Amino acid sequence: MAGPVAVDRVGTASEVANMNGTAIRARGLTKRYGAITAVDQVDLDVRAASIFGLLGPNGAGKTTIIKLLTGLGDASAGEAEVAGYDVRRDPMRVKERIGWVAAEVILDDDFTAWENLWLQAQLQRLKGWGTRAEELLRYFGLSDRRDDKVQTYSTGMRKKLEIALALLHQPEVIFMDEPTIGLDASTRRMLWELIQGVNREFGITVLLTTHYIEEADALCDHIAIIDHGRIVAHGTPTELKARVGADFIEIATAEPVTAATFSAVPGVLEVRSQGASWILRVRSSEEVLPRLLGLLRTDGIRRLNVEKPSLETVFLDLTGQRLDTAGENIDYRKFYATMRRARG
Ligand SMILES: Nc1ncnc2c1ncn2[C@@H]1O[C@H](COP(=O)(O)OP(=O)(O)O)[C@@H](O)[C@H]1O
Ligand SMILES: [Mg+2]
Repeated sequence: MAGPVAVDRVGTASEVANMNGTAIRARGLTKRYGAITAVDQVDLDVRAASIFGLLGPNGAGKTTIIKLLTGLGDASAGEAEVAGYDVRRDPMRVKERIGWVAAEVILDDDFTAWENLWLQAQLQRLKGWGTRAEELLRYFGLSDRRDDKVQTYSTGMRKKLEIALALLHQPEVIFMDEPTIGLDASTRRMLWELIQGVNREFGITVLLTTHYIEEADALCDHIAIIDHGRIVAHGTPTELKARVGADFIEIATAEPVTAATFSAVPGVLEVRSQGASWILRVRSSEEVLPRLLGLLRTDGIRRLNVEKPSLETVFLDLTGQRLDTAGENIDYRKFYATMRRARG
């Protein structure tokens, strides 16, 4: 018989985490606010050096999950390990190893980039941070603006600086809460490239939240779709899309056609009418399109539109809601301006 198992592990837990390749592990993570269960029995396994996305509408529980994983909030139940350490037992060790880019603006406008970095270094009691700060400014293309006040920066430059601040202490894991919320399309794309670059260049695990489907699709190696505090599906973007297992064909004809005409076509799973068009749910558009074209006179087709499975159709399939419009009614320019004013 083996003797009692030593409780204290030899070697750092972080080495152990890197060995088995898991940067974040959660089991049964739950957070209740009175009657509201904001996070409900969430399990997570985030591979080290990957980009992991929590995708869900406003109020789904994404920010709360980040708070629980970063030790900013206490879980009502469940457990989590981040960078090899238990969030509840070793919160300081976890904090040393993680960075956080909040959804709201955290920069001090009256400070220069360099002063913001200095402030961050003081807050975290970092030594010898200067070289690292210079390296980060160079990496983000901000070196020649380091002594300019942040109030003169564009939104894209602010975002870069926020990420630089989060990377200053060389974290293993970085959390980004809605990193591109309210940004215009080109700034958003720039930021996607930047996040991918940081992930590859520095080997940092990225956990980000978003309600933008194209963002999760373009950026993440692995996605957990979250709704009402629960993970309703997870997988790679490709795996998730394969779940739907159907394409949609929208078709409008010059002459009246009955639903029965379409239903009779092999490979058509479902026929719905929508205004002047028909929506066909089909096994595969490649298989069904030639049959449709053979059936209808080509010059009798007014409109033809093929929709391949997307994360939007997955979300729709799982929750019966569309995700793409969530949170879009907020004026983010005003929001950012208010945040800045509130900071004085
Ligand atoms: N401090 C709090 N007190 C009470 N309810 C909260 C608090 N924080 C979040 N909630 C509620 O928990 C749910 C999840 O919120 P949140 O994690 O912010 O969602 P998301 O980030 O996905 O938009 C929402 O119903 C929200 O109103
Ligand atoms: Mg949020």
